[in-house]
Amino acid sequence: MKVVYYDVLENLIKDIKKRITNNVELYSMKHELIIENQKVKYKEIDIDLRSFSKPFFVDNEIELDLSECREDIKNHLIEICTAYTDNELEAIIHKMPILKEYSSKRNKDLKDVAVIWRDHFLEDNIGLLTSFMRMGVKASDILVMDKGDSTKHRKEITATFKKLGFQVELLDNNSLEEKKLLERGTEIIDKFITDRKDKKVLILDDGAIISKILINRKYDNVKAIVELTEMGLRRIKKLDIEELPYPVLNVAKTNLKKFITYKEISNTIFTRTIELLGDEKLAGRTLIQLGYGDLGETLAKRFRQYGVRVSIVDPDIMKLIQAAEEGFITYKTLEEAMKYEKPFIIIGASGEQSISKEVVMMLEDECYVTAGATADLSIFKEFEKEGVKYKFIPKYGTQYEINGKKITVLGNGRSVNLFDSESIPNRAIDIFKAGTLVTANMAIQEEKILNKKLQLDIVNKWIEDSKILELYYDLYLAKK
Ligand SMILES: NC(=O)c1ccc[n+]([C@@H]2O[C@H](COP(=O)([O-])OP(=O)(O)OC[C@H]3O[C@@H](n4cnc5c(N)ncnc54)[C@H](O)[C@@H]3O)[C@@H](O)[C@H]2O)c1
Repeated sequence: MKVVYYDVLENLIKDIKKRITNNVELYSMKHELIIENQKVKYKEIDIDLRSFSKPFFVDNEIELDLSECREDIKNHLIEICTAYTDNELEAIIHKMPILKEYSSKRNKDLKDVAVIWRDHFLEDNIGLLTSFMRMGVKASDILVMDKGDSTKHRKEITATFKKLGFQVELLDNNSLEEKKLLERGTEIIDKFITDRKDKKVLILDDGAIISKILINRKYDNVKAIVELTEMGLRRIKKLDIEELPYPVLNVAKTNLKKFITYKEISNTIFTRTIELLGDEKLAGRTLIQLGYGDLGETLAKRFRQYGVRVSIVDPDIMKLIQAAEEGFITYKTLEEAMKYEKPFIIIGASGEQSISKEVVMMLEDECYVTAGATADLSIFKEFEKEGVKYKFIPKYGTQYEINGKKITVLGNGRSVNLFDSESIPNRAIDIFKAGTLVTANMAIQEEKILNKKLQLDIVNKWIEDSKILELYYDLYLAKK
């Protein structure tokens, strides 16, 4: 078996000494490493970059032949090779200068804090979580929970989180429907919090699954929940309880996310859809988009700029008027739109179960469906349960045979921008991650004045006061 270490030999030896054993010898004439008497042949090979942020100073890589070494050493070496090297980590952190600047100036602010974080395993989150460490959080006090999307470097990022010393677990989106998954997640979270009675625990949640778990439990050491998505806000509002047990800080609808980050999200949904459409022609053809909210508005405009004929469906009359007055063809329902349009693609951007069985039955042969929000595609799970013939094609999507026609769901039935992708460039998402860090930090600094309710205004104020927006403007936009 062969694996590649994405850096020079000298750094590989350092990593082996740090993570496996000091008992390692180099025999360069024979191209061999002897690790605890086990022989590992190596070969220097040409560079092959794999991370989203490219390291600057790698001049070659090392291919290791593990065929002759003991199982435990082999497994350690696989882990070392899968995790990002220090060089790759440095490149990621270097590309997120706002996070670095904010956290470096506050290096003791979070020294009594533990963090539970649930989100996508994307490189940018390495930037965020190492910033918590820079501010004083110990690696062993960070629990990371994977949302389950098949992002491009998920395997590497999982190994990197382990290398950094975090507790790494899975709390998949599906756990809301699967009781056993939710119970396991609950146990892990409960143990993490109760083992850290001397720490203030901060929760960063994407989709309110942790909030749902915590809402009926009162832990004195949990200080706040930071919610990152619109979907999470909707789930919290539906909980319908008089008082939340913790302050919930709404980062999902901050001015920062609305006016800066949503544009980047739309860019990635747009580019990922185009990549997956492959040889299809787009200009002049009809796309129906479901939802003209914060996400939908920018997304529709991206497709229109590309020459696509975009029709909008939204049940909210104000959104419908806005879309119509901005020149889109509009409909109150998808059923109505289907009477007048023959779309070659439907895109969900509502976060609701917006596509019905009847509509899918009406689609033409070789039509595509995709979404920026998983809930929009939920009807396809029902088709699968009913025994409709389908085939998942890796790196592309699922082809369904429905009503004698081939309908392709691009991606894996979840948000398309996260499918086999790193989504938003690290430099572009840096400001949003910094906004999240500011919110988490301020939740601790201003713990005593926070109300136990869903809060947005104070988060906008903290972000404004932190001056990270000025930093962003000066870095990328100001005329120099
Ligand atoms: N993929 C990503 O990276 C990503 C990023 C941000 C948001 N999201 C998700 O995208 C979804 C939308 O987010 P948003 O911030 O734009 O929300 P929003 O509330 O601003 O907009 C949603 C819009 O959809 C409309 N809508 C509701 N039901 C509909 C239906 N059946 N058909 C058509 N339209 C319908 C609403 O009236 C509203 O105008 C959420 O689920 C959010 O979590 C995904």
